[in-house]
Amino acid sequence: MKQALQIFGFTIVVSVFYWYVSLWVPQKRTDPPEDIEIASDLTIEEMIPIGEEIVAGKGTCLTCHTMGDHGTGLRFPDLDNIGAIAAERVPGQSDVDYLAESMYDPNAYVVEGYVAGMPNVARPPIALTDQEILTVIAYLQSLGGTPTVTMQTTLQWQGQAPAQDAAPAVAVGGNRDAETVFTTYLCNTCHSLDGTAGAGPTLQGLGQRMTRAEIYEAIVDPDEVIAEGYVEGVMSTMLNANNFYEQVSTSELQALVDYLASM
Ligand code: HEC
Ligand code: HEC
Repeated sequence: MKQALQIFGFTIVVSVFYWYVSLWVPQKRTDPPEDIEIASDLTIEEMIPIGEEIVAGKGTCLTCHTMGDHGTGLRFPDLDNIGAIAAERVPGQSDVDYLAESMYDPNAYVVEGYVAGMPNVARPPIALTDQEILTVIAYLQSLGGTPTVTMQTTLQWQGQAPAQDAAPAVAVGGNRDAETVFTTYLCNTCHSLDGTAGAGPTLQGLGQRMTRAEIYEAIVDPDEVIAEGYVEGVMSTMLNANNFYEQVSTSELQALVDYLASM
């Protein structure tokens, strides 16, 4: 009896110990971009809130644009009334086609007063699917206009984006050169190297105004020091959304700092 009790007590101690340990072992976290299930028979009314969710989430649109009550855009077009504007932008182009082109081929028409630099959101790293883009169009049309797009609308750009699983594999922890890293994570969409203004400061002459340590800090912790005249959170939101911080290796980061310091 005494022995049985001892074994029983020992079992409890062991179980409590493992339970305690399990509290301290970090749970393995995987955060794939949430894919939203999009049925092909959605009504327009059902498409709008899904489009809104994509705009705020996977689409990373609010990193750059203000829309409705969302976003902190500064050097980017305000999309508050885009549903009304879209039909007027390009003579002969419908609002649906204009909005689609803005996403699949953003440089085809550059809004006056702005700098080209919107990424093609159908391609990695953002990689919206054709179905997701239809719902985003419905949401954009609803901002000041009347949604007419449906899940059956066909657009000339559909099917051109690489399938999600055919997207080029990212060499995680790899040895990509600085220029590759600079374009892969869309640094070039916000920063020019030739002095032109963009969504972020030009990096021309960076080596003369910042030390390597400051450049390193500016990349690793962009919200710590904010360049004058720019908005906090734009760069960090984009780099978090495209998994820069998870994927970049130490040696790649080093190469990137060397590259920018040489400007
Ligand atoms: C990295 C910043 C950035 C991101 C992210 C971005 N855009 Fe843009 N967008 C721009 C810039 C810069 C312009 C203006 C230049 C141009 O017309 O290409 C623009 C223009 C537009 C226009 C045309 C506006 C007009 O007044 O005619 C639309 C529509 C648009 N974006 C929608 C979107 C949507 C939807 C998303 C998300 C799926 C998105 N953008 C993500 C930077 C961005
Ligand atoms: C969506 C736009 C955007 C993207 C993408 C982006 N940045 Fe920035 N970046 C900014 C903005 C805005 C600032 C100014 C605000 C601040 O200092 O955080 C900035 C600041 C900087 C600075 C400091 C410049 C100075 O003059 O103080 C460096 C260096 C920099 N970015 C490098 C990068 C690199 C490298 C990448 C890619 C890995 C990148 N950025 C991606 C918008 C962006």
